[in-house]
Amino acid sequence: MVEKSVNLEAKSEKKKSNDKDRAFSHDFQYSHDNPYHEKLEIFDHFVLRDDEGETYQNKWQAEVFNNQAPLEVEIGTGYGHFMIEHTQKHPHINFVGLDHRFKRSFHLAKKLAKLEHKNFRYLRARGERLGFLFGEDEVSKIYYFFPDPWPKKRHRKKRLFQKRFLDEAFRVLKPGGEILVKTDHDDYFSWMLDELKNEKRFKLELKTFDLHTEAPEHFLSSFVTKFEKIFLEKNVKIKALTLKSLK
Ligand SMILES: C[S@@+](CC[C@H](N)C(=O)[O-])C[C@H]1O[C@@H](n2cnc3c(N)ncnc32)[C@H](O)[C@@H]1O
Repeated sequence: MVEKSVNLEAKSEKKKSNDKDRAFSHDFQYSHDNPYHEKLEIFDHFVLRDDEGETYQNKWQAEVFNNQAPLEVEIGTGYGHFMIEHTQKHPHINFVGLDHRFKRSFHLAKKLAKLEHKNFRYLRARGERLGFLFGEDEVSKIYYFFPDPWPKKRHRKKRLFQKRFLDEAFRVLKPGGEILVKTDHDDYFSWMLDELKNEKRFKLELKTFDLHTEAPEHFLSSFVTKFEKIFLEKNVKIKALTLKSLK
């Protein structure tokens, strides 16, 4: 009996990790069995659901934003604190925010709909699709703040920041393009540094285990996301890194 349940658990873990791998692959298909998928349709003038965003690969500037301003992407927008502040402060950039949670996306879309500057699109989509959403040299910056840490050992392979992600990020980033990361999580931060150990394509420009004390003047110290605020109130030190593409 015990053996059976252990087997079932192993099977279900295998399935989950296959799902994760599939999200990086060509034949991945979104499922959207969630009432917020339909509800998001009312925002279809700026929200793209599932793989809709993938039809604009290589066309974001010319066909979506109708300008040549730099394209910046945030993965895991959450409640949108950074997306809202940054897009409104910098009306001359093009910004694509994405998150895979349905209800959170809907609540954020309601806030985004009221903003003055419409220099953004929002995707209810997965970060693993980066390489399908954007073409080679199309993106200037990728932001990744307080990602889900997947702390259990058997779940770590679900972490987005891994070789396949770095491959896609390198491809879609312009020469000199950047990845900017903040996290509260010691283990995920060490994991990221490990993934970067033999990485020759990026220069690690910032690496800090205590962002707000060690680099108070850095751009990453100039705003606080919703999750960051929670961690700062608990006196958790914010870890951060930035990578510059050496393309
Ligand atoms: C801990 S929250 C952080 C939200 C926000 N960045 C902040 O700092 O307040 C992580 C967010 O990433 C989203 N997320 C996690 N994995 C993702 C993935 N593979 N693709 C897209 N979004 C993801 C979650 O739905 C969640 O909203």
